Amino acid sequence: MAPARPRTARAAATIREARPDDLPALARLGARLARLHHDLDPDRFFLPDEPIEPAYAWWLGKERASRRAVVLAAERRGRIVGYAYGRIEPRDWNTLRERSGVGVDLWVEPAARRAGLGARLVEVLVEKLAERGAPRVVLHVAARNERARRVFAGLGFRETVVEMARELAPPGRGRAVTAPGKRARTAAAPAATPVRPRARRASPRP
Ligand SMILES: CC(C)(COP(=O)(O)OP(=O)(O)OC[C@H]1O[C@@H](n2cnc3c(N)ncnc32)[C@H](O)[C@@H]1OP(=O)(O)O)[C@@H](O)C(=O)NCCC(=O)NCCS
Repeated sequence: MAPARPRTARAAATIREARPDDLPALARLGARLARLHHDLDPDRFFLPDEPIEPAYAWWLGKERASRRAVVLAAERRGRIVGYAYGRIEPRDWNTLRERSGVGVDLWVEPAARRAGLGARLVEVLVEKLAERGAPRVVLHVAARNERARRVFAGLGFRETVVEMARELAPPGRGRAVTAPGKRARTAAAPAATPVRPRARRASPRP
């Protein structure tokens, strides 16, 4: 793949498909992305109890080997400064969404931001998903993530769905729920970050 051309000298990062030796660095960035979402809205975006990094390195390694997925690394002076991850998802009747490329993760390290790297990562991701047959790319973004929403809007993404959530218990990390005839359990969502070997797939990251 030809490296994408940087827009500015400061943005002189090379975007390429991720290699196995990138996975620990990519997983560290993925964990930051998870923490960012939890900080934006702790009731909606849980943080797994397990360490995120090893599980996510495993998951991204599995994904990069899949023909349905694209995992990109942005490298500058030998350091990983960003990544993007997306996959082809089949037609989904619940959301009436045709087969699509889905952008799952996007992260640029703070020191490399505002130089066009985020936009370039998205463009290369879109290009790679199109090569894999995606007729469109959809992505989810946290409502409170205004910066990312601006970046996506600037790249031609239109708003299509608004997710709404209503908490049924005081804010916090889970609440007691007792099903009839069962012992109390916590209603906090289980870890979406896959933990080998139980997990089947990661949840899309908005
Ligand atoms: C969202 C994110 C990926 C954007 O990365 P980025 O590399 O800063 O993106 P860009 O540089 O392409 O664009 C960001 C801004 O810089 C501006 N910009 C781009 N090139 C520029 C340049 N050479 N000089 C000055 N500003 C520039 C863009 O116009 C844009 O402005 P805006 O914020 O007013 O819309 C980054 O902020 C990030 O990693 N955030 C945390 C994770 C996250 O939110 N991920 C997305 C949800 S999955």
